[in-house]
Amino acid sequence: MTQQDQVPPVDTAAGPGGPDPVLDETSATRAAGPVTAAVTTLGVRGEEREDFSKAESKRLRRRSLALLGSLAAPLKARLVLLGVVVVVSTAGTVAGPALIAWGIDNALPRVMDENDWVPAFGVVATYIVVAVLGAVLTAWYTVLAARISQAILFDLRKRVFLHTQRLSLEFHETYTSGRIISRQTSDLDSIRELLDSGLNQLIQGVLYMVFTGIALVVLDPTSGLVLAVSLVPLWFLIRWFQTNSQTLFRATRVTSARVIVHFVETMTGIRAVQAFRKESRNRDEYGRYVEDYRVANTKVFNLFGTFDPVLVLIGNATLAAVVIVGGFRIVGGSLEVGALLAVALYAKRFFDPAQELAMFYNGYQSASAAMEKISGVLEERPSVPDPAKPVRLPDATGAMDFDDVEFAYNADKVVLPEFELHIPSGQTVALVGSTGAGKSTLAKLMARFYDPSKGSVRLDGVDLRDIDPKDMRRAIVMVTQEAYLFSGSVADNIALGKPGATRDEIVRAAKAVGAHAFIEALPDGYDTDVNKRGGRVSAGQRQLLSFARAFIADPKVLILDEATASLDIPSERLVQEGLETLLADRTAVIIAHRLSTVAIAHRVLVMEYGRIVEDGTPDDLIAGTGRFAQLHAAWRDSLV
Ligand SMILES: Nc1ncnc2c1ncn2[C@@H]1O[C@H](COP(=O)(O)OP(=O)(O)O)[C@@H](O)[C@H]1O
Ligand SMILES: [Mg+2]
Repeated sequence: MTQQDQVPPVDTAAGPGGPDPVLDETSATRAAGPVTAAVTTLGVRGEEREDFSKAESKRLRRRSLALLGSLAAPLKARLVLLGVVVVVSTAGTVAGPALIAWGIDNALPRVMDENDWVPAFGVVATYIVVAVLGAVLTAWYTVLAARISQAILFDLRKRVFLHTQRLSLEFHETYTSGRIISRQTSDLDSIRELLDSGLNQLIQGVLYMVFTGIALVVLDPTSGLVLAVSLVPLWFLIRWFQTNSQTLFRATRVTSARVIVHFVETMTGIRAVQAFRKESRNRDEYGRYVEDYRVANTKVFNLFGTFDPVLVLIGNATLAAVVIVGGFRIVGGSLEVGALLAVALYAKRFFDPAQELAMFYNGYQSASAAMEKISGVLEERPSVPDPAKPVRLPDATGAMDFDDVEFAYNADKVVLPEFELHIPSGQTVALVGSTGAGKSTLAKLMARFYDPSKGSVRLDGVDLRDIDPKDMRRAIVMVTQEAYLFSGSVADNIALGKPGATRDEIVRAAKAVGAHAFIEALPDGYDTDVNKRGGRVSAGQRQLLSFARAFIADPKVLILDEATASLDIPSERLVQEGLETLLADRTAVIIAHRLSTVAIAHRVLVMEYGRIVEDGTPDDLIAGTGRFAQLHAAWRDSLV
């Protein structure tokens, strides 16, 4: 978290990814121009923003449309059916008033003049059939639409998860967790809302207005003209609403995102928050964000406060005009009563969907913003791509080479300049140096969490970029200070290193690294749930578990990046023997601050400013006068 805060957004165009992998992508992304530039300008990496230029908006829209298209493609048949059902059901609903008019103007006179009931029964029967059919079709439409929107959401949710999981460390180190959570929660929610209700309303509303307008024009062109005139103020009202709501709705989204991000950051960093008494500062800050959100929402409500009454006014005025004009025409004999009733009903109903359409506009805006952000994430390519022609390396010996490597996280600062290193198979190397020297960076390159900007990192002479990812992950394992435990039992967590491991293997691994005793002491031993009370283990114990995980994985190359940092001295002594078992018969790089850990190494590398300044056996270096000799003396003094 803290690192993410400090690290500036990575400029992918000049980043460590080497040749831009995005360009190998589909023509859809290629059409969108140089995507790396898009990625940085569109705020996928940096801050979340919504103030895009016209060209950017266009590109974003095209990008999310392409995504929507790919989501809808498998549902084509169902979408066509949906279209047919909605057209027929809306037409049925709109037919009602026309049938009433026909009944009053034609069937009723026949009853009164000729005592002929057939047309009257006919029209009533038709009315009932149409009404029932309309209801059934509407129900069908609702179910169909819900199924389609669920299918789309399911697909999208899965894609976002799988894709985010696949993205390289570089992405996760720059894209804050608050934002990634927003993608999976609030963004998907606003898309769900739009699909579930908004879109239904839009399609039904628009069709309803169109059919009502047509019915009105067919039934009585003069009244159609009156309605057409009313469209002028309606058009102005809607324009006014759109222009104003765009900024206001955007403000609500930006402010609500800020509230969420602040909340997530506070809670994920709760230890630091409490340790440094940041609560009151947070309270003020959070209070400000919540207040901004409230103000933004109030403005939206005020907007509706104007929009709604004006809309009702236009509707009522139109209705009055239709009735007055129609009334005069009835007096003149050019319009029948039934027709006027139908016309009045149409004129009144015409405005019904308008308010929903205005609401839809809000939903549409947040959903399309969400869609843009999600498609931005989906468009990200792993900066450490899988090889096109993977080289199998199932029996690596574990010799590692850095050939002419140069590495930079971003263009302005080279972290490893011209790096050369050969580690023969089976050697245990201790890597020491001051904070920020580049030790973790070296470790991350060795485990291929990043690729070098120049040169190559090789395992058994094969560039890591070319090795089959499965073989590479099997051969090289990195254990860091952050020993993460997943929900499940202790045994499950150890078995992560070797899926399908037997209980015997798990216990053997735990014994090898000195974790067996404390595991046995847990309430349910190896079956203790790590998330349950009593299953909570200390940081040092977590590290022992991650050692067991590494031991059972049995890699050829093992990298420990400050992985012993949380162990107290007695358990480090305990783990010392375990560590020696763990490191035997494999290439190992240990980054550690402890003298005892360094002592078991065959070779010590001292690193400063991204370069190796000393390289030799522990004894040789101690005997010398260099940096390691000084460090060693300081360590010894600290022990007595
Ligand atoms: N994800 C990152 N993005 C940009 N710079 C980074 C990143 N991680 C580390 N750095 C920078 O690289 C340099 C080396 O860091 P690191 O390898 O973590 O050092 P060490 O492990 O020796 O303390 C530091 O200057 C650090 O600021
Ligand atoms: Mg480090």
